[in-house]
Amino acid sequence: MKLKLSAPIPAGLKPQPRRPGEKDPGAAGAAKEAGISAVDWLDERTSLSGAARWMMFRKVPKGTNWFYTLGSATMIAFLSQAVTGVFLAMYYRPSAAEAYESVRYITNEAFLGEFVRGMHKWGSTVMVILVFLHMGRTYFFGAYKYPRELNWVVGAVLLVLTMLMSFTGYLLPFDQKSYWATIVGVNINGTGPLVGPYLNDFLLAGPDFGATTLSRFYAIHMMLVPGLIAALIGAHLYLVAKLGTTAPPWLKAEKDPELRKESA
Ligand code: HEM
Repeated sequence: MKLKLSAPIPAGLKPQPRRPGEKDPGAAGAAKEAGISAVDWLDERTSLSGAARWMMFRKVPKGTNWFYTLGSATMIAFLSQAVTGVFLAMYYRPSAAEAYESVRYITNEAFLGEFVRGMHKWGSTVMVILVFLHMGRTYFFGAYKYPRELNWVVGAVLLVLTMLMSFTGYLLPFDQKSYWATIVGVNINGTGPLVGPYLNDFLLAGPDFGATTLSRFYAIHMMLVPGLIAALIGAHLYLVAKLGTTAPPWLKAEKDPELRKESA
């Protein structure tokens, strides 16, 4: 006996009529199609597949090689830092009295805490190394030249922000090493021409190096800089997709047959 439905099934949820000659796919077939149907559903309402195709299905120059993966590798390192950082933030307490103890708790007691902290700590070094290697690749391949100057400048800002992440993150465990090393770092900033003293005041966030400085570093490390990095990576990738990537410098462009005729 069939159960009686209290309300009719909405048209969108009813199975589509089969095309002539098409076999019934059955439950397994429907399950296989579920992913595609979900993407179709989203695309029908947002048309985002066009943007995704524009971003990902691009022509790349002849000779593209492994060195071109360094930018994406930097981005993956950043994403890994963001994910592990969120988990660390669940346990970390940014107060002068509690920071050290909360980091000790993460390392020695929290479930997988040592692993997540290790990922974040080593990940920061990996990201810095990758960003420099990526910059070296774009420099030696001449990718800073017309029309990619703006993308180079965006990249340079990303480099500074990456260094700022390392600098502000270093203080957070609030142990002897991080405390004294950051005092040296802040003092060096203070000696900079013109903006130095203002930068010093901004970083200290008070008359002395102490509790307020830790809160300021935490806010910069957790919210300000990651937000800026994420936005600038978006702009950087937009420009990469719009302008395409540079061919390796050892490849010579083939001369257009028309031009060859003219110069002959
Ligand atoms: C968080 C840091 C960064 C991320 C996530 C990032 C990501 C990327 C990605 C994914 C690409 C395309 C693939 C590739 O060529 O590797 C790219 C290209 C490029 N990046 Fe970066 N990048 C970063 C920092 C930098 C820096 C520091 C510079 C230079 C100062 C830079 C300059 C460029 C340039 C000029 C291109 C175009 C390359 C070409 O036309 O061949 N990027 N970046």
